[in-house]
Amino acid sequence: MPARPSATPDEIRDVNTRYHDGAAAGYDAKWGIDYGEVGRRQVLGKVRKALGGRLERFGRSLEIGAGTGYFSLNLLQAGVLREAVCTDISAGMLRALEENAARLGLSVETRACDAEDLPFEDGSFDVVLGHAVLHHLPDLRRAFRQFLRVLRPGGVVLFAGEPSHLGDRLAAYPKRAAVAVAPLWRRALRAGPARNGYADGGAANHELEGLVDVHAFTPETLADAARGAGFADVRVRGEELLANWFGWANRGLEATANPDEVPWAWKVYAFRGYLALQELDRRLLEPRLPAAIFYNLMVAGRKPG
Ligand SMILES: C[S@@+](CC[C@H](N)C(=O)[O-])C[C@H]1O[C@@H](n2cnc3c(N)ncnc32)[C@H](O)[C@@H]1O
Repeated sequence: MPARPSATPDEIRDVNTRYHDGAAAGYDAKWGIDYGEVGRRQVLGKVRKALGGRLERFGRSLEIGAGTGYFSLNLLQAGVLREAVCTDISAGMLRALEENAARLGLSVETRACDAEDLPFEDGSFDVVLGHAVLHHLPDLRRAFRQFLRVLRPGGVVLFAGEPSHLGDRLAAYPKRAAVAVAPLWRRALRAGPARNGYADGGAANHELEGLVDVHAFTPETLADAARGAGFADVRVRGEELLANWFGWANRGLEATANPDEVPWAWKVYAFRGYLALQELDRRLLEPRLPAAIFYNLMVAGRKPG
C-alpha cells in the first residue's frame, strides 16, 4: 500500500523519518544485508550493470538515503569509492550505518538531510548514488536537480533498486500466493505464527511501513526525471524477475512466522535459490526482455561538461 494520494510532501517525509528511525535496529537482519563477499558482489554487480557493463572508480561520493550503509560501505570495501559521504532523512538509520562502518574499520561522513534539500556546495562530488530510495521522494525532479547541482561537471549519477510499476504488479501474485499457503507452510516447518511487527520496530512502527512509498516507476518516468534535471547519457535498465518472484514468495511466507522458529535449512535454501535465480535473470532474461517487466529499475547519467 503506497502513501495516501492526499499526503503532503511534509507528511511523506515525516512518516519516512519515523518509520526508518524505528526500523533501523532490525533493518540489516530483516533484509539480509551483508557487508562481506556476498554483499560486495551484489553491489558491484548492480553498479556495473547501471554503468553499462563497465566498473568505474570514483573519488568523493554522496549517497542519498544511505540507510544502514549497504551501498557505500560495500563500495568502499571494494575500492570503487575513495571517500564516502552518506546521507539519510532518518538519523536512526545513520546511527546504524556509523556502527556498521566502525565494525568494518571504515571511515565515512554522515549527514541527516532531505534528498530534495542537500546541504552541500555546488560541484563537490564525483558521484551521487543510492539504492532503493527514489521511490520515497515526494518531488523527484527537484531531487535530481539537487543531484546535478552538487556533482562536478562530468560527474555520475547512479541509482538502483527502484521498484518498477509493472514489476510491482507482477510481484503481487507470488505475495498473494504466499499468504494463501502460509498456514500449511508453517505447519510443515513446525514454525509458530509471527508476533505483529516483529522485525521492524514493533507493531506501531510496522503500521507505518505501508505509507512510506510514493512511486513505482516506468523506465520512462525515471529517465525523464534525470533528463529533465539536465543529465546526459541517461540509461535505464531492469534487473531481477524470477529471483524477485521467488524472493517475495519466500519473504511473504517468512513474514507470517516467528523468525526464531524458521529452520536454518529453509533460510539457506531461500538464500541460495535467490542467488541462483538472480544469475539466471542476469544471463538469460535481462539482455532479452524490456526493462519495464523487471522488478528493479536502475538509472545512470552524467552531468554535462
Ligand atoms: C528502503 S530504504 C534503503 C536504504 C539503503 N539505501 C538500502 O538499500 O539498504 C530507504 C531509505 O531512504 C531514506 N529516505 C526516505 N525518504 C528520504 C528523503 N526524503 N531524503 C533522504 N532519505 C530518505 C529512508 O530513511 C531509508 O533509509
